[in-house]
Amino acid sequence: MNASSVAGIANDPFFAEGEGCGQEVIFGPKCIEQLAMRVPPLGKRALLVTDSGLTAAGHPKRVMELLERGGVEVTLFDQSIENPTDSSVQSCAEVAKQAEIELIVGLGGGSSMDTAKGCNFILTNGGSMADYWGIGKAKHTMLPLVAVPTTAGTGSECQSFALISDDQTHRKMACGDKKALPCLTVLDPELTLSQPENVTACTGVDALAHALESSVSNKRNELSYRHSKLAFELIQENLPRVLSEPDDLEARGLVLLGASHAGAAIERSMLGAAHSMANPLTAQRGIVHGTAVGLVLPAVMEFNAEDRETRSIYAELARNANLAEPMLDDDAATNCLIKRVQEILQLSSFPTSLSEIGFSMDDLDSLARDASDQWTASFNPRPVNEEAFKNLYASLLQTKTC
Ligand SMILES: [Fe+2]
Repeated sequence: MNASSVAGIANDPFFAEGEGCGQEVIFGPKCIEQLAMRVPPLGKRALLVTDSGLTAAGHPKRVMELLERGGVEVTLFDQSIENPTDSSVQSCAEVAKQAEIELIVGLGGGSSMDTAKGCNFILTNGGSMADYWGIGKAKHTMLPLVAVPTTAGTGSECQSFALISDDQTHRKMACGDKKALPCLTVLDPELTLSQPENVTACTGVDALAHALESSVSNKRNELSYRHSKLAFELIQENLPRVLSEPDDLEARGLVLLGASHAGAAIERSMLGAAHSMANPLTAQRGIVHGTAVGLVLPAVMEFNAEDRETRSIYAELARNANLAEPMLDDDAATNCLIKRVQEILQLSSFPTSLSEIGFSMDDLDSLARDASDQWTASFNPRPVNEEAFKNLYASLLQTKTC
């Protein structure tokens, strides 16, 4: 799939189909310039939510100039933190309140998007993020949100969920409401050129996992599966290109688009056991999310492939992406899919065992307990309990030798 063939996909109303979403997605190099024209009708005072790490790349300055060129007054909040907490979101909302803003622009990776969305909940509906944990808890209209991702990974720019941690328990609260969905998403691949190599790998593998987990989740539907399938095709083909040639703008654009389609799939079908297993690795040892998800993903796919229906979906994904001959049966085609995932993980130079990242046999019980507590576990296509999680973690303690 090349850039010209996906230009139409990016502008397809399919991105915003269903559930009354009013989201518009624009895609292409330099499309960020359109902010100067598209934002002013949304409001005259904007809060730009980003993180200080992007200052060197010049992205916040550029966005501010574009908005100001359109006559929009901008207040900068560049204190988004990794894994945003309720208190960090409250700080952002306080700045927004003082400035009497009329719209929010989120610029950066998932953390800035989540902070921007969280701020929108608090500013317009009050209280704390715990009040919005779940789906559809906001009673009042929210401000227009514009999402400008600078990483290709979380797909948060196409979701109504904000992932915010509780300050005391560190538990991640998924707060979703259709009113929190960005009304405009700007996918400019040039912005992703500033990602360091390890960030490109981690966010890309996370997006790959989003495509695969959402494709088989027990909440999947026809629309979510279309997003998942397209996301998988785009990411599996182009992430290796980006990893070997980081300045390949066409490949970067296609991975960015794939990550956003994966985000749109999650919005409708949620995730599964790989994310349930990854979160405790992050919580207990600070393992970067994409690394944690990549480490567990092949084992979870093997586990899920025991389910006949799931196996047939994996096989279809493999055949559609030309990873398996059309005549191969579902078992063989699924193996081709898992092999492709392992190849991409190898290119990413990720750890291949739990022992490599500091876990031992003594940690298995607490990891399994925490994994079975994760919300995403309930959407896995094959039921997965604490014992099954323990067996999966145990299988990953040491690197497998072929
Ligand atoms: Fe993820």
